[in-house]
Amino acid sequence: MSTMPPPFAVPRTLETSSPLHAPAPHESGLKHASGEALYVDDLPSPPGTLVGHIIASPHAHARLVRQEAARARALPGVHAVLFAEDIPGENDIGPVLHDEPLLADGEVHCVGQAVALVLAESAALCRQAARLVELEYEVLPALLSIREAVAADAFLSEPHTIRRGEPEAALATAPVRIEGECMTGAQDHFYLETQAALAVLEEDGALRIWSSTQHPSEVQAKVAEVMGLGRHQVVVEVPRMGGGFGGKETQAAPFAALAALGATRTRRPVKVWLNRDQDMAQTGKRHPFWARYEAGFSEEGLLLGLKAELVSDGGWSNDLSRAILDRALFHMDNAYFLANVQVTGRVARTNFPSNTAFRGFGGPQGMYVVEEVLNRAAERLGMDPAELRRRNFYREAPAHRTHYEQPVEGNRLPRIHAELMASSEYTRRRAEIDQYNASSRWTKRGIGYQPVKFGISFTTSFLNQAGAFAVIYADGSVQLNHGGTEMGQGLHTKMRAVCAHELGVSLERVRVMNTATDKVPNTSATAASSGSDLNGQAVKAACETLRERLRPIAARLLQVERGEAEALAFASGQVFHPERPQRSVSFTEVTQAAYLAQVSLSATGYYRTPDISYDRVAGRGRPFHYFAFGAAVVEVEVSSLTGEHRVRRVDILHDVGNSLIPSIDRGQVEGGFVQGLGWLTCEEVLFDEKGRLLTHSPDTYKIPALGDVPKDFQVALLEKAPQEDTIHGSKAVGEPPFMLAIGAVTALRHAIAAFAPPRAEVHLASPATPEAILRAVEAARATPR
Ligand code: MTE
Ligand code: HPA
Repeated sequence: MSTMPPPFAVPRTLETSSPLHAPAPHESGLKHASGEALYVDDLPSPPGTLVGHIIASPHAHARLVRQEAARARALPGVHAVLFAEDIPGENDIGPVLHDEPLLADGEVHCVGQAVALVLAESAALCRQAARLVELEYEVLPALLSIREAVAADAFLSEPHTIRRGEPEAALATAPVRIEGECMTGAQDHFYLETQAALAVLEEDGALRIWSSTQHPSEVQAKVAEVMGLGRHQVVVEVPRMGGGFGGKETQAAPFAALAALGATRTRRPVKVWLNRDQDMAQTGKRHPFWARYEAGFSEEGLLLGLKAELVSDGGWSNDLSRAILDRALFHMDNAYFLANVQVTGRVARTNFPSNTAFRGFGGPQGMYVVEEVLNRAAERLGMDPAELRRRNFYREAPAHRTHYEQPVEGNRLPRIHAELMASSEYTRRRAEIDQYNASSRWTKRGIGYQPVKFGISFTTSFLNQAGAFAVIYADGSVQLNHGGTEMGQGLHTKMRAVCAHELGVSLERVRVMNTATDKVPNTSATAASSGSDLNGQAVKAACETLRERLRPIAARLLQVERGEAEALAFASGQVFHPERPQRSVSFTEVTQAAYLAQVSLSATGYYRTPDISYDRVAGRGRPFHYFAFGAAVVEVEVSSLTGEHRVRRVDILHDVGNSLIPSIDRGQVEGGFVQGLGWLTCEEVLFDEKGRLLTHSPDTYKIPALGDVPKDFQVALLEKAPQEDTIHGSKAVGEPPFMLAIGAVTALRHAIAAFAPPRAEVHLASPATPEAILRAVEAARATPR
């Protein structure tokens, strides 16, 4: 390197002040739109790359009695056909418990479970070879619903209970009693980029893997275990994901491990990529939940006592099911103070692909239950369901405690409620809707209000940590590495802005690098909405270290007293004393001088969330660093002729603290809400009686499209709402808005009830597909007048 590198060419005009708290495009937005953004499958394949093709079980439960691959192996262009016995290390891919063989080990537990891996020169050859592999099964009885699993006493967990007060006594004396059952359905992640991994064998058996994963460190760990290597022999890199939504938190690992196994066995690079049908059939989904509840209310609509039992469908192995069930139990209160409550949950074992993380992580399923209870109470009492909800809110000060005894500090719901009720004109519109319904025969309208309180942090407390590694080159340009992954949510955009802010340079100077386990080690998944909270603090810490190292150099260049170095400002690409801004030195001059003065220009940063812990046995603790809040008002119109509905208008007021990048957060609120609508209204996962997925492609599985986005969509972020002890006063945003969509269910119930006599019971199944709505309308109409 020359001693004086040329100055880095950033036009001075671009060196504006801080990019934080101002709207900005997604850092890859143009590349997404033009198709230039690179995903794993777009990376140039190294010469000789083979295709890895999974032979999946056709049975929901069976014993593998014979396997013979000689004919397949003899096919020219086929390099290997591998089974469980070809795995050099541990045949396990379970992220928490070791209960999930990577390749079937004598028995298969669901349709789609991986049995063998074919490695050949093309996908077509792989398919041809797969047909020549002889597999014989002895079919065994399968459990294909939560009810069947419960009846067979098949569970993946022991019951977990959180209890407070005296729910039995409260129920016994409550003037209004409600009991019932409800189910919520599965949901496919439908990320636009399906699961993909590329593995390359390096020297001495080491592996380099490009994976579409939310959790590169776990992919590294699982690949190392499967291959019998130390983690130092495996590097995992993530360019970006075309969506993850939780589906790549644990479930990217098997495909990376199979690619690694194939690469090691054939000594050729191997790519494993699933097409849409394979992806939908082979990977787990959002957990369906079944719930039974008993609730007692006062005549004024106060929820006096609640007992509920939840059973989730874990699929065939544990994956993250226990943590997901815990989060469902933590969110059984949603926004409401439950003085007397007992909630119990258990994970059922069925013969479906193992269900997994999905935006909200059990929170939506838990909340759905209490929201159904509140809707039924409002219908029974003839009360406005929004007012009934407000009456049950957690008190602001002194803070009420949740059922697991965490104080609900910084409760912004009363403020959000008041602002949203006014801006959405809820009361006037509800009256107008009632008028419309009185005169409209075939279509009716409904309005629903949905508050959300959502706990932010991984509930497995030790996961709340993150790292970063920032590198300044002598020309003043910056490479930023952090432990989070980019899946479209805008994490890199936010991290780049935090880095540019701390160093006082323009965004153009900072390049966010691919996430890689050799740059930032031992990371947690980008999940639990905590990507920017955790990594943001680590990035800030790394940049602060660098800035402190640069201060004395800048002080020397500016010829200020050493004692004044502390006060120097880094902003707009310059370093200066705030009292004498006209005399400045450029960031580039400072970094060049630092290099010549033999000052290190790279630094790591680390962060762990303080003061959180949870005692699972006692069901008590402070699992969350803070709560995110929001509320929505949703208006729908239902046709009683077809059961179809339209979302006419949605108003959302959401709390993201002091937003790091408001345009990104707005996109998260809109996207999360619409994905929630999908779960609740149109996405229906169906299996046949043999456990085969019927809805395995977009022609049978309907996700919301552009036309399903509410026509009138008013999204606002709560103003002037800094959050204490977070990265620049911001709050997590990824998951909480998903649950605002439950307001659509309340709105649908309002519309459906309008077809029936006053105070008729509404029985609306989830998802509220046209069939479910028609059934609910017909049942409501049949109520005797
Ligand atoms: N947004 C996009 N565009 N794509 C995604 O895959 N995943 C969601 C949410 N928003 C997702 C998304 C989920 S499930 C989570 S947990 C958060 O983003 C994760 O990112 P964050 O922690 O950086 O918010
Ligand atoms: N949320 C999301 N993902 C997770 C969690 C959680 O609490 N725990 C482990 N993975």
